Amino acid sequence: MSIIKPVSLLSVPKDPLVISSLPPRNISTDTQTILFSLVVPTYNESANIQKIVKILTQLLDEYIPGDYELIVVDDDSPDGTWEVAQSLMLEYPQLQVMRRQQERGLSSAVIRGWQVARGEILGVIDGDLQHPPQILLQLLRGIEAGNDLAVASRHVEGGGVSSWSFIRRFLSRGAQLLGLIILPWVLGRVSDPMSGYFLVRRSCIAGVTLHPVGYKILLEVLGRGKVGKIAEVGYVFCERQDGKSKVTWKQYLEYIHHLLRLRLTTGRLGRLTQNFGFPIGRFFRFALVGLTGVFVDMMVLYLLSDPTTLALPLTRSKIIAGEVAIFNNFLWNDVWTFADVSQQQREWRQRLKRFLKFNIICLAGLLLNVLVLNLVFNFIIHNRYIANLIAIAFATFWNFWVNLKLSWRVTQVR
Ligand code: GDD
Ligand code: MN
Repeated sequence: MSIIKPVSLLSVPKDPLVISSLPPRNISTDTQTILFSLVVPTYNESANIQKIVKILTQLLDEYIPGDYELIVVDDDSPDGTWEVAQSLMLEYPQLQVMRRQQERGLSSAVIRGWQVARGEILGVIDGDLQHPPQILLQLLRGIEAGNDLAVASRHVEGGGVSSWSFIRRFLSRGAQLLGLIILPWVLGRVSDPMSGYFLVRRSCIAGVTLHPVGYKILLEVLGRGKVGKIAEVGYVFCERQDGKSKVTWKQYLEYIHHLLRLRLTTGRLGRLTQNFGFPIGRFFRFALVGLTGVFVDMMVLYLLSDPTTLALPLTRSKIIAGEVAIFNNFLWNDVWTFADVSQQQREWRQRLKRFLKFNIICLAGLLLNVLVLNLVFNFIIHNRYIANLIAIAFATFWNFWVNLKLSWRVTQVR
């Protein structure tokens, strides 16, 4: 009796999230370019995966036989979705399966799928049959008609959601409104920016490093891609038959993080910082860490110098409080703001060296802080608190820029 060897899974790309360009379809190469690659991100969809693969295959075999592929990207689902999908590969030759074990997340799963895809048109559809597969052909026609992006939308003619609770509708619309306020030039381009069901021309996002967070992959495509004309097709978001939604509060927080990151790195502000090579997202994190340092400094100063606590002399208390705050800031900056750099130099000697540099730079920053405070207070604004805020801003910029150039960057070169 012949043992059927499981068909091999796709290897997971390890490089940054960049979609490569492909040679035109009429040029034969080892990775033959095809028309369409559809990624199906899955997590615990073992009860749905066979149904959706069967329906998609029937639809696409009829419309573009042999010129498409389905790519299931599963994040090592506990219910074995990837194994079910792998067992379908013999029956569905255009099906490929990727099992991710080191990474998790809907939007990064989609991009990993697009990275190994061979299609000129890249698409994504949920694996739980809540996105009606029939709409796919209208989306494909939208791209073939010359649009760069074709989005299945719940908020145009023929669109809607099934029996969503008032809360879910409110949260979805509220999230969209927040996005319109923070990123009008991105979310304002489509009626359903929250959609997880769309097709995009590979050329619009090829070569761009994508930094998706959470669920909203369409924001990343609209925010960082070079998308011209857009088509929208109305669809009704169906009820789940099997399994359950993975949306939690975490996805809402990730959505806000995603909006802020796109705000800081795209549009006018993004171009400005890119032109000056100023890493605005990193500065944003550095400033946030600095805020925790102010809190630590105040707390230690209170514990040491307040008449109701140890009542130590003010200057000595301030020096100790300042040093504790610097230590606090170094820790957070090393594990968060500059994590991508410090993870490449994990040795304690390298970490100690970074800390000493950080310390010296921040002590110089403290000096600058005192100088600017006196200058502003005595000659410009005779309000000590406003003068102090201006002094803190100067010192933060100095601390960030010099640490970026000396502490984390130099050890990386070594
Ligand atoms: N690989 C992978 N990794 N897939 C995931 C993950 C993950 O961490 N989380 C969810 N998925 C898959 C699910 O298996 C499903 O196929 C799809 O992504 C959507 O996940 P759901 O948890 O069902 O999301 P939803 O139904 O609440 O919302 C979906 O539809 C909305 C309207 O289009 C999502 O696609 C939203 O992004 C979208 O706005
Ligand atoms: Mn769903």
